[in-house]
Order: sequence, then C-alpha cells, then structure tokens
Amino acid sequence: MTKTGLLMPGFGGAIATTVSGVIDLIKQGHVKKYGMISEKQIDDRTLGQIAGAPEIEELEVGGWDAVDATIGDAMKLHGVLEEWQYNLVSPNLKRLRPWPVRCPDLEKKSPWGSCIAQICNDIETFRKERGVDSIVLVNCISTMPKPTPNPAYESISSLQVACQQDDPCITPSMQYAIAAALTGSAYANFTPNPVEVPSIVKLAQQHNTPFAGHDGKTGQTLLKTGIAPMFNIRNLRVRQWISYNHLGNRDGAALAEPNANQTKITSKANCLTQILGYEDVGHKVTIDYVPHPDGELGDRKQAIDHIRFKGFGDTPMSLLLHFDCQDSSLAGGIVVDLARFMTVSLARKESGLQPQYGLFFKSPQVPNGEPDHDLFNQAAYFEAWVCQDANQ
Ligand SMILES: NC(=O)c1ccc[n+]([C@@H]2O[C@H](COP(=O)([O-])OP(=O)(O)OC[C@H]3O[C@@H](n4cnc5c(N)ncnc54)[C@H](O)[C@@H]3O)[C@@H](O)[C@H]2O)c1
Repeated sequence: MTKTGLLMPGFGGAIATTVSGVIDLIKQGHVKKYGMISEKQIDDRTLGQIAGAPEIEELEVGGWDAVDATIGDAMKLHGVLEEWQYNLVSPNLKRLRPWPVRCPDLEKKSPWGSCIAQICNDIETFRKERGVDSIVLVNCISTMPKPTPNPAYESISSLQVACQQDDPCITPSMQYAIAAALTGSAYANFTPNPVEVPSIVKLAQQHNTPFAGHDGKTGQTLLKTGIAPMFNIRNLRVRQWISYNHLGNRDGAALAEPNANQTKITSKANCLTQILGYEDVGHKVTIDYVPHPDGELGDRKQAIDHIRFKGFGDTPMSLLLHFDCQDSSLAGGIVVDLARFMTVSLARKESGLQPQYGLFFKSPQVPNGEPDHDLFNQAAYFEAWVCQDANQ
C-alpha cells in the first residue's frame, strides 16, 4: 500500500487533533466519511478516486507544536470529539507527541539556516520511518500578527540570506513552507498568516512543489460565499451585511490579540464585493473571544449574519442567519481533502500557487489576477481540475 504523510504544524491544536482522531476512527470503521469533498460520490466512484488521490486509510499523520502534550491529552483538552469517540481512538495515536518548535541553533550551520534544516530533517526522518511516498504539510498553527514588508519576501537569494541568519522576518508559517519546498513536499496554508510572498512562491516553483492558501473556508465565509451568489442571481440589492462571530476556544484566545484579530478580519472581509460586483455595501465583520462558562460550547463558534437588502419596488427586507459551527469538524474535512488532492498535484507535477484549491480558502491565492470567491464557480473549477485526467 502506498502511503501519504500529512504533517501539521500546530499538531496539538484543535483542528489537527480532530483530523488525527477522525482519520483513526475512519480507519477502524467507527465513523462515516462525511464532510470531505474527496468522498463525494459521482456515479460509482468518489471525487478522490476519480482524481487518483490516496484513500484516507493511506494517510499517516505527524507534526510540530509549541505545547509539549500527547495528542491524546490535547484532544481531550479541545473536547471536539465526543467521549465515546475519544475512547475509541487508538492508544498509539493518543501516546504520540508533536515535534517541538525548532529554534535557532548556532552550532548547526546550513545553507537555509538552522531552524529550517531541523524542520527538513524532521520531514525526512518521518518519510523514512513511516515509509511514506508523498508528503503534504497543512499549516494549522495559531494566527499571528501580519509581518511588515521585507526584501526577504521578494527574491530567493534574499530569502535564503534571511533564513541563514534565522532572521525573525521568516515567520514560523514561512519556515514550514520553505522546508516543504526544499523536501519536495506540498504545502497548504490553513491559517490566515501570510506566507504566499513572491520569494516563497518562486522557491516552490523552483522545487516543483504545489502551494495552496490561505485561511480555511469553514463556517461563516462558506455560508457567505454560498448565499451571496443567490442575491446576485435574483438581482436583489444587498445594502448591508453584518457578520458577527464569537468563539471561546484556543483559536479565539489567539484572536483576542488585536493584530492577529486584524489578520483574520482582513481575510474574512475580502469576498463580498467581488461576488456582488458592487461596492456600496455596508460590510462589517467582527470577531470576539468570549470564554464560555464551564467551557460549555467547547469548540463551537457562533456565527451570526444580518443581511439587509432591497427587492422589487425598492422593498426593504432582511435575512438573519445563525450558524452554530463545530469549527474544527468543518475544518478537519478540508484538511484531509487538501492532503489527498495535493498528493495528486505532486503526482501531476503542479508547482507554485494552485488556483483550483480556491474552494477551500477564505483568501484564495492565485498566480494571476483576482480570485473568484463564488462558491459555485469555485466548485465547478475544482471538479473540472479533478476530472482533467479522467476525461482524456
Ligand atoms: N477552526 C476553523 O474553522 C478555522 C478556519 C480557518 C482557519 N483556521 C486557522 O487554523 C489555525 C488553527 O486553528 P485551531 O483551532 O486548531 O487553533 P489552536 O489554537 O487550537 O491550535 C494552534 C496550535 O498551533 C500551535 N503553535 C503555535 N505556534 C507554533 C509553531 N511555531 N509551530 C508549531 N505549532 C505552533 C499552538 O501551540 C496550538 O496548539 C488558526 O490559525 C486558525 O485561525 C481555523
């Protein structure tokens, strides 16, 4: 059996532990394969099978985290899996520990600096020890403040100089992306942390590795980019769209930091005018961290959208939506999809930014022009990509 490595920076986080736990439960036959595009049935095959993607049973997980706790303890802490599910997760997975965050080591001289050399070494050791053929890194680390412009982001040569010096302008999310390219692995950026700077995209092209991002489209933006096209189809004029989120999990705590909050809001606010095709919409997005009393909502984010619009005869109307999202479950399916489909991208020798994955992201990164945020256009584009070899 061929194997694919799914390596997640942020391995002890809510998303990565949910991904690891659910993959394990699927392998044991305890849960169904819902919530993944790769499992969507077309005739007698799934989209994953049509694309030639690895099966879920062929995925091996691993990764890095800033917190040194076993995956079992972290999984319990996040409380995404229900107790009966947690009890069925394999003891081997529960005992696993993430690799630590790699810090500068002056003893270790390397062409790409000591941090990246250590990350590359982790990847290659995993490849050998677990016998995997392809590796996909899906970045699931905490949201961090947006970096300021730096020459290292422009050319490969200045990027390499900054890496050699373990310069902090190379953010953790960037370090993992660079290590992915250098080890011939695919990289998807599930976080809103900007990574897709010209020098890193060029590096991925140079190493023939695919690159996708950023910020997983899981809850409110999924809904928004699905509902906004409906207003367009019926020429109902949207006047105001107010999006409110409150969450009490660890991601919410990270987003309480004002700069991280801004990184996320920028990522969430991009899509509406592009889909509607006009700008005079009062669009406001807010995210608040509200710790739940007794942690009772756990990982569940409350996303509320209030949309005011006008119809025939200028008649004012409004729509109120409340999405009680199980955030990590919505995210987990996409992470698995990215691991499976990006293995196909590696096999098809696709390199640099991959626009077909726009469907999975709030801020799709495309090689040229502006991204299309319309969920239905994105789905059609993605399915055409999946079927491109199958149709030949
Ligand atoms: N949950 C969703 O629906 C969703 C949607 C889109 C994007 N995201 C993004 O995905 C990311 C992960 O979300 P989460 O809910 O799992 O968050 P989380 O806080 O539970 O997990 C993040 C993990 O990253 C670890 N970490 C921090 N710095 C690190 C580093 N340098 N290297 C390795 N690990 C590091 C933290 O210790 C933590 O365990 C966040 O950036 C979030 O904004 C989440």
